[in-house]
Amino acid sequence: MPTTQSARTDTPGKLGILMAGMGAIASTLVAGVEAVRMGTGRPLGSLTQLALAPGATTRNPQKLYEYLNLNRIQDLVFGGWDITPGTVFDSATRAEVLDPALLERLRPGLEAVEPMPGIHDPRYLRRAEGKRLKPESNKYAQAEALRADIRAFKKQHRLEQVVVMWCGSTEVFLTPGPAHQGIGIFETAMKENEASIAPSMIYAYAALRENCGFVNATPTLSVDLPVMLELAAEHHAPVSGKDLKTGQTWLKTVLAPGIKQRMLGLNGWFSMNILGNQDGAVLDDPAAFRSKEESKLSALNHILQPELYPELYGQMSHQVKINYYPPRGDNKESWDTIDILGWLGYPMQIKLNFLCRDSILAAPLLLDLALLTAAAQRAGWSGVQEWLAFFFKSPQVRQGQPEHDLSAQYQKLTAAWRALAEAAVPVSR
Ligand SMILES: NC(=O)c1ccc[n+]([C@@H]2O[C@H](COP(=O)([O-])OP(=O)(O)OC[C@H]3O[C@@H](n4cnc5c(N)ncnc54)[C@H](O)[C@@H]3O)[C@@H](O)[C@H]2O)c1
Repeated sequence: MPTTQSARTDTPGKLGILMAGMGAIASTLVAGVEAVRMGTGRPLGSLTQLALAPGATTRNPQKLYEYLNLNRIQDLVFGGWDITPGTVFDSATRAEVLDPALLERLRPGLEAVEPMPGIHDPRYLRRAEGKRLKPESNKYAQAEALRADIRAFKKQHRLEQVVVMWCGSTEVFLTPGPAHQGIGIFETAMKENEASIAPSMIYAYAALRENCGFVNATPTLSVDLPVMLELAAEHHAPVSGKDLKTGQTWLKTVLAPGIKQRMLGLNGWFSMNILGNQDGAVLDDPAAFRSKEESKLSALNHILQPELYPELYGQMSHQVKINYYPPRGDNKESWDTIDILGWLGYPMQIKLNFLCRDSILAAPLLLDLALLTAAAQRAGWSGVQEWLAFFFKSPQVRQGQPEHDLSAQYQKLTAAWRALAEAAVPVSR
């Protein structure tokens, strides 16, 4: 039975979601939405599908998607790009996240989504080959080709609004450089095939030039650059990133604030992960791991503020390891050993062992980010959406430091929902 979400007549209609990189997390999103539409799965983990509106009561259990007038799940149209051949059915099968029997039932919907050829630079992704590529080798020409794809997708599906999400493999670590400082410089640098311009940035550039909201689901810089903020302002596009807060970091940002609120000390947090999916294979490259490490490490320092509380956290050793271990596939296992200090400095230990499923945790976050980004754009909000920090390991900010504490992030999120509900308009810009 298809699900019908609402009887409202002023719903915003169809929304296009284009994903650059359609591997495990993207295919799990597309398959999950298809399963929900067919009534064979429930969207657990998705705030936009299951949360109630602020102030909801048993007598008035209004759903968040009604309150914010979000695009309905039956109105989503998926597409994207990938450098690996095959349809989304093929990538979902390769990813081994969902049961083959479920995928078989979803096959027609998944086979209908065939990613477009992508752009690739082996300097930024050393552990995977590009086998389905656009012919253009100049970076500016690549951006123009991606822009043409977005326009064609909009036209084909009669879409007013499209959100683009970077869901590709983690690129090697990079810091912002001179070529990323302004639109003119960036465009000249693309024309000159400047080495510091990574594929994820070219997708972001193309999306923003086409007035699309942009979400960076990975630790890669992508849209976290001055040039992109200039473009976002010029094109009235909301942007957010970086790196979905799925498993270990999610728990870290729940637990660490509790330790600090009790004024307990902490002198060590050792985080281990084993995973065997393609993401794990890419992160086995130390240069790609560095991007992930930066994003995973940032949370604790921000939450515990060792500079303000040297007595409690000044000696803290925080280490994160990720090991590629093929037998586990997408079913990641993480261990955290946390060394805390109590009254008179007596040591205690907390052990966490999380047997999670990477893409099962990531897919609902992607859905929420796409729907909330689209709603933000309809409300006229552009630039960095700091209220979406709840969804990210290393939240992108306009300036200053990001908020990492999950409950503080949740408060900001719900405050933004109230503002968004007031500003919500049914028709896209
Ligand atoms: N799985 C999680 O829980 C999780 C959480 C947070 C962030 N992430 C990040 O999300 C990203 C995707 O994760 P995944 O598990 O789906 O990985 P994956 O390896 O299954 O999928 C990545 C896909 O991107 C494609 N790709 C790589 N470079 C590309 C390019 N330049 N253009 C187009 N396509 C390209 C690959 O061919 C592959 O299909 C990774 O960067 C990962 O670190 C994942």
